[in-house]
Amino acid sequence: MTRQSRARWLAFATTALVVLLAALFAGLRNLDPVKRMITAATTAAVEVPHSRTAAGRTAFVDMGCTVCHTAEGKGNPSHPLDGIGARRTREELRAGAFAGAASSDALPSGVARVKRSHASDANVEVLLDYLEQLR
Ligand code: HEC
Repeated sequence: MTRQSRARWLAFATTALVVLLAALFAGLRNLDPVKRMITAATTAAVEVPHSRTAAGRTAFVDMGCTVCHTAEGKGNPSHPLDGIGARRTREELRAGAFAGAASSDALPSGVARVKRSHASDANVEVLLDYLEQLR
C-alpha cells in the first residue's frame, strides 16, 4: 500500500465514520417524537378516570352528600364514607347513596326522601366512580 492510497483510505474511513455517527444520532433524535407520543397516550389514559374522580368529588358536594357524610376530610364526620369503595359494590353504593329498596327501610323517611331526590341526577355515575375509589 502506497502512502498516498493509505491516506485516501484513511480519509474514506473517517468520512464513513462521521456519516455513520450522524445517522445514528439522527436516528436517536427521531425516537423523541415516538417517545412523546407514547408518554402522551399513557398520560391521557390515566387522566380520564382522574377527571371523572374530580367531577365525582364536585358532585359529592353539589348533591348535598357532605351535609351528612364526610370523605377525604370534607363534610359532616358523623357518617364517614372513607374506605367505602373497598367494602361495597357499585350497586350497593348506588342503593346506599340514593336509598334504593333494600337500604331505605333502615333510614329515617326524611333522609330516604332526600337521597331518592338525587337518584336520577345527571352526575350519578361519576359520583359512584368517586365513591368506588374511596379505598
Ligand atoms: C340527610 C342526610 C344524608 C344525606 C344528605 C345523604 N346521606 Fe348517605 N346516608 C345517610 C345515613 C343516615 C346513612 C345510613 C348510616 C350510615 O351508613 O352511615 C347513609 C348511608 C349511605 C351509604 C351507605 C353506607 C354503607 O355503609 O353502606 C352511602 C354509600 C351513602 N349514604 C352515600 C351518600 C351520598 C353519595 C349522598 C349524596 C348523594 C348521600 N349519601 C346523602 C344520610 C345521608
